[in-house]
Amino acid sequence: INTRCNAVLSNSSSTETTEYADIDWDSIGFGLKSTDYMYVMKCNLDGEFSKGELQRFGNLEVSPSAGVLNYGQGLFEGMKAYRKQDGKTILLFRPEENANRMRFGADRMCMPAPTVEQFIEAVKATVLANKRWIPPPGKGSLYIRPLLMGTGAVLGLAPAPEYTFLVYVSPVGNYFKEGVAPINLIVESEFHRATPGGTGGVKTIGNYAAVLKAQSIAKAKGYSDVLYLDCVYKRFLEEVSSCNIFIVKDNVISTPEIKGTILPGITRKSIIDVARTQGFQVEERNVTVDELLEADEVFCTGTAVVVSPVGSITYKGKRVSYGEGSFGPVSEKVYTVLTSLQMGLSEDNMNWTVN
Ligand code: COI
Repeated sequence: INTRCNAVLSNSSSTETTEYADIDWDSIGFGLKSTDYMYVMKCNLDGEFSKGELQRFGNLEVSPSAGVLNYGQGLFEGMKAYRKQDGKTILLFRPEENANRMRFGADRMCMPAPTVEQFIEAVKATVLANKRWIPPPGKGSLYIRPLLMGTGAVLGLAPAPEYTFLVYVSPVGNYFKEGVAPINLIVESEFHRATPGGTGGVKTIGNYAAVLKAQSIAKAKGYSDVLYLDCVYKRFLEEVSSCNIFIVKDNVISTPEIKGTILPGITRKSIIDVARTQGFQVEERNVTVDELLEADEVFCTGTAVVVSPVGSITYKGKRVSYGEGSFGPVSEKVYTVLTSLQMGLSEDNMNWTVN
């Protein structure tokens, strides 16, 4: 990122100058590390976002009656910034995709949203202000969490009268405790994540609260996470709590199509493009649980998880295993190509990274 940042720095005359934050970069995992600054931009009563500002990272003050607290009127995004091998150049991956996805979700949730330009400027300003928290090359990434929330007070059910757009960041390593080792999923037969006509296709905060129950039951039994099925036929794959799912059979890659109940993942979309450029046939369609159990390879994709191989699936008490405890050949290929682009290790012939 080298664009000039127009954001106003409040409570500080300059950003931190230390080259790297003083943390153990070899064991960062996926948990919040409080960084230096967050970006805050408020929406006025005309539905326009005014100029934002960087503030010291810290707690927010909101009315107990805020729309986001009472009625869940909120969206979030997940993005990452990587430090290139030179240690200086910072890369963002397809930030306009996140900006557009937030705008799409905001419409569904009856919220005003920042423009694509405002969104990207806010993200860049936040990343630059927290530069010392971007892991050294190869040690992880800076996870970026933009939030859009109804922060105005509202008691009767209605859209909040005021909104806040906020961006904070945290250095992260691997999402799953398994690291890059394959994860073990259980197919959920009782709970569902989304319904046709619902909000499963947007990144609203409530979607993530709704999966916690099934996830904690699964984790208590030793599984990494839960894979959801459609709620009508109960046989088509939807997604894992925090990521999209792909199967590979006879070198053909298939993933559930986007039809309102599945989050349109940016990593999902990028992997489809990467796989096609690598010569694979990729199908977006209904994928059945039977096909999953017969697949040669299964993997998940998401900003946080990147590409995560699936080592086993358990469905109705039957466990099916895949691979030899590491990436399968197809997931390894697409993982390597994608991450090389994201980290600036290969020439970005897709024009996906922004620096
Ligand atoms: C992401 O992958 O960025 C997400 O938003 C998923 C989240 C549950 C960590």
